[in-house]
Amino acid sequence: MTTARADALALDREDPLAAFRARFRLPDRVVYLDGNSLGALPKATPARLAAVIEDEWGEGLIRSWNRHGWIELPRRVGDKIGRLIGARPGEVVVADSTSVNLFKLMSAALRLRPERRIIVSESENFPSDLYVAQGLIDLLGARHELRLATPETLDAALDDDVALVLLTHVNYRSGRMHDMEAVTRRAHQRGALMLWDLAHSAGALPVDLAACDADLAVGCGYKYLNGGPGAPAFLHVAERLQAEFRSPLTGWLGHAAPFDFDWRFRPAPGIASAIVGTPPILSLAALEVGVDLALEADLAAVRAKSLALARLFMERVAASCAGLGLTLASPSRDDERGSQICYAHSEGYAVMQALIARGVIGDFRAPDILRFGFTPLYTSFADVWDAVEALRAVLTSGEWDRPELRQRAAVT
Ligand SMILES: Cc1ncc(COP(=O)(O)O)c(C=O)c1O
Repeated sequence: MTTARADALALDREDPLAAFRARFRLPDRVVYLDGNSLGALPKATPARLAAVIEDEWGEGLIRSWNRHGWIELPRRVGDKIGRLIGARPGEVVVADSTSVNLFKLMSAALRLRPERRIIVSESENFPSDLYVAQGLIDLLGARHELRLATPETLDAALDDDVALVLLTHVNYRSGRMHDMEAVTRRAHQRGALMLWDLAHSAGALPVDLAACDADLAVGCGYKYLNGGPGAPAFLHVAERLQAEFRSPLTGWLGHAAPFDFDWRFRPAPGIASAIVGTPPILSLAALEVGVDLALEADLAAVRAKSLALARLFMERVAASCAGLGLTLASPSRDDERGSQICYAHSEGYAVMQALIARGVIGDFRAPDILRFGFTPLYTSFADVWDAVEALRAVLTSGEWDRPELRQRAAVT
């Protein structure tokens, strides 16, 4: 039991991942618990970007596409991400945003199951996943249907008309985590394809797509992979599906021979056919730094620390914030939760603004959720201690109760 700040500091001294914190730039007097939304800046990123800009772009100019392997970057960084999510080489590529990749993969999945009409997902899924599904159904002439389930009704929603099961592994709001292996197996038993959104999983906890026999996956580069705001996303297509896989966005860099400039589209072999246009080299270079850093860490240790941080957070909230209007909105069981903890509070937005004013940065998700993400490479046990102390102070003082703190900003 951690009952004093000194105990939290002792946990930090024993932490096998503690040295990673110095590899990130974190502002003084800030407790950053929002790496699940935007990862922190690796200290190596500015120098790498400066080198890409000054040397590769400035000096190398267009020669750098070959000389510095720019053209290979989407696949090179994709393979590195693949190692974090248990994919085989050649199964992952970096491209576009998560939403665009969802469109490409959902569309390809429906083509692979032409006789089936249903996409199963959750009403609690990240809205963009559901919006893209709706847009695609509309584009395809409203012949398909989006069937929404809950984790409890998922099995009942699976029947022989289901083409695709579309789920986010770790829920963006509650942090609830699916059993990837079991759900994939059940989808396959019904003959459906399975598409996993790994936005809140990649780099945060061990994922083994190959062991789960997963079909398709997507994920973000700017969360636990620390690629920077708007970093490009990744997509995964299992090797066994690649020969039949057809992206609906047939751009020149997904062509088998882009520099033949043939007018007829011929897909590149393998995962490369999922690339559309020119890759964003500066963003990819920044993402590679974050991914390389993640690859240095043992993901089992990352997961163990993430769970210990979350347990300490819950323990401290129970001990010092009882009766202050917080309700745990994440699963309390470790094996059902990703790397974040959420609490509902009727004035959640203003409470989070007051916390941020004290230097404790989490975020708010409508309608009433305070969200705290743990990024084991740089979140310390002392951070967790200090965050809960600040939360208690905000709630007992009532300092959140000011009109300006209720004024919603564009990004919450
Ligand atoms: C689970 C999940 N899926 C998809 C997205 C959307 O990603 P993008 O903005 O790259 O399209 C997010 C963004 O936060 C997310 O959390």
